[in-house]
Amino acid sequence: MFEVIVQAILVLMVLLLTILYFYLRRQYDYWKDRGIPYEKPTFLVGNLGRLLRISMFDFMLNLTKKHKTDYFGIFLGWKPVLVINSRKLAKKVLVKDFEHFQNRYSFPGHADDPLGALNLFTVKNPMWGTMRNELAPMFTSSRLKKLAELMNINSGELVRRIQADYIDNNKPVDMKELFSMYTSDTVAYTVFGLRVSVLKDLTSPLWFITQHMVRWTFWRGFEFSMIFFVPAVAAIMKLKFFSEPATNYVKKLFWDVVEERKKTNNPSNQDLLHLMLQLKENLKLPVGSDKELADNLMLAQAAVFILGSIETSSTTLSYCLHELAYHPQVQEKLYKEVSEAMEQTGKDILEFNDLLELRYLTACVKETLRKFPTLAFLDRVCNRTYQLTDDVTIEKGTPVYINVHAIQRNEKYYPEPEEWKPERFVDSSTDNDNHDFTFLPFGEGPRFCIGKRYGMLQVRAAIAQMVMKYRFEPKDPYNVETDPYSVILGPKGGGKIKFVLR
Ligand code: HEM
Repeated sequence: MFEVIVQAILVLMVLLLTILYFYLRRQYDYWKDRGIPYEKPTFLVGNLGRLLRISMFDFMLNLTKKHKTDYFGIFLGWKPVLVINSRKLAKKVLVKDFEHFQNRYSFPGHADDPLGALNLFTVKNPMWGTMRNELAPMFTSSRLKKLAELMNINSGELVRRIQADYIDNNKPVDMKELFSMYTSDTVAYTVFGLRVSVLKDLTSPLWFITQHMVRWTFWRGFEFSMIFFVPAVAAIMKLKFFSEPATNYVKKLFWDVVEERKKTNNPSNQDLLHLMLQLKENLKLPVGSDKELADNLMLAQAAVFILGSIETSSTTLSYCLHELAYHPQVQEKLYKEVSEAMEQTGKDILEFNDLLELRYLTACVKETLRKFPTLAFLDRVCNRTYQLTDDVTIEKGTPVYINVHAIQRNEKYYPEPEEWKPERFVDSSTDNDNHDFTFLPFGEGPRFCIGKRYGMLQVRAAIAQMVMKYRFEPKDPYNVETDPYSVILGPKGGGKIKFVLR
């Protein structure tokens, strides 16, 4: 009897594996059947095999070098994904026909990870639309003006920390960590209204939450890769956007600050926490939803602002200083621009409007974001059958990736694209200029980065103060390796330069 059962199980397994084998073989003909060029998949993992060994940045760069057509297909696991290289088609997906591409493909999270499921980056429409409208006031010019003051205070701390650690004590430089401390101190205030400073070596509750986000381990890389690229596996494995300790800590911090404010009767109206509490009062939640949903919605936005602002800005600062170190003439021109602005305004520290006027500084930051976009792809999922071109129909449920490298490193728009040349952007009008859809480091369309102006501001404020005090000299080889485990770009080992007192 036992033998019969074992035999039956074996037969069933062989049958299932055979069905799976033929299903996948059929699936892997998806792009071939539609006459669309594609990257040859490996059985079961599709084109993911390489992605788990190299960074997303390098993965997209390698594909860009290989596929010069307007679009091509890849397979994430067994899922066919359309990659778009053309700026015109990118504009259709991100802007003109946004109603068919409202959501991201990445895993929307689950009940055990409310902060992962309900934040603005992951949340799906219609909830996304409501949240986006409510959060927009967080980034008005008057609010940013106020935040610029704090960014300037923290930039001052950054300059002092460089002196203490790298000049006086000759410690090895880790730019990613250093700039993450700076952005962490700023976000502590933006989100929780807390004036803390890990840069000053003081205990910062925010640094406790964020320092593990800065270091990419194999496991975190795997978790994020599944969340972004194979949502089905993320769902089965119940993977989380935010770890349990980070979730608990954000919750505790949030409610501690609320309690403290009640006790001291101090209704600060500058930070996200204040806006969230107002939002909670007014939010129209789906019928039947409980108080916990409203609480989790607030906490999720706090968490994604922390993650969104620290990783991206610290990476941009690291790569910008690395390039400046290798381009001493650009560095001197930048120094001249900042020192002349200080002379003209008579200020030691440049304020919000002064920083916006620094065109060459802005050009250096934009050129860094062109060559090193922190997210090399913008993902959307098609919500109904859609005619992209005469030849290409996208089926409902198909993920579409906009290949940012293919656009930002296209020699038609940027001759010698491997060269770092801020001159390309000196005539750039505003932070919102997408250069005829050839500049997409913050994404585009209704789902573009909500923190774009905040991010640009905190990067400008830090560079303006650092360049006045130090010269940057190279330490790493020019072509820095990227962190292989990171979905968001980061230099392997954090990135090193030499700071020399002016
Ligand atoms: C240099 C700095 C930054 C860069 C390069 C950057 C880049 C991006 C990119 C590429 C996207 C995806 C856009 C799309 O799919 O079209 C995005 C979305 C987002 N970013 Fe940023 N970001 C930066 C700073 C920030 C900051 C400072 C915050 C928060 C304070 C933030 C919060 C977000 C959020 C919440 C989203 C999701 C928006 C939505 O889906 O509606 N980012 N960012």
